[in-house]
Amino acid sequence: MTIEVEVLNGDASWPLAKPLFDAIWPPEVVAKLPWAGIVFARAELRVLLQNEAEEVLCHVGLHRRDITWNGHKIRVAGIGGVLTREDARRHGYASIALNAAIQTLKDEGSTPFALLFCEPHNAPFYMARGWKPFDGEIHVDQPQGRIRFEAMAPYVYDLKRAPQKGVIDLCGLPW
Ligand SMILES: CC(C)(COP(=O)(O)OP(=O)(O)OC[C@H]1O[C@@H](n2cnc3c(N)ncnc32)[C@H](O)[C@@H]1OP(=O)(O)O)[C@@H](O)C(=O)NCCC(=O)NCCS
Repeated sequence: MTIEVEVLNGDASWPLAKPLFDAIWPPEVVAKLPWAGIVFARAELRVLLQNEAEEVLCHVGLHRRDITWNGHKIRVAGIGGVLTREDARRHGYASIALNAAIQTLKDEGSTPFALLFCEPHNAPFYMARGWKPFDGEIHVDQPQGRIRFEAMAPYVYDLKRAPQKGVIDLCGLPW
């Protein structure tokens, strides 16, 4: 099977990605997840893996944001919405999409680290791919104001150097 990997504008490619989100995270499933009720940022870029029928098999969302770490302004890349269609899992697609996201950030060269949030059962998947736990506090904006974000655990990836402790304020919605 031929798989096409593309990095696309986040808003323009949302109609392509939406069916995958709807299939994996319908409202009744999301309602039972630890992050139910959290408002997330829309991805700036999307890595999409499509098959020959142009069906999206895998998605990774990419964000870039100026945040603060221990009060210092710092640039970070966010990874979110890592999804593979149920019948296409364990073929390495999420690994390929994550690598494409990381390569895009490395090529840009302006971001010292990447940050993602995941549920405990997905942590081994990311740790096997070089992500390390961030052992600190995360604060984010929500419609009701600034909150401490504890719905999922933070993991960081060294592009140059990632902090592993401290207080991060995402200065916006989480991803
Ligand atoms: C988590 C998720 C994105 C992984 O997607 P995936 O495309 O199956 O991921 P990969 O195929 O790259 O890797 C999955 C496993 O399959 C293995 N694998 C990869 N290629 C394989 C192949 N050809 N044959 C057999 N196994 C393979 C990998 O080694 C990996 O195992 P490991 O974690 O023990 O190392 C997917 O399970 C998913 O969409 N889950 C639901 C949504 C979700 O929870 N997303 C995460 C949000 S943080």
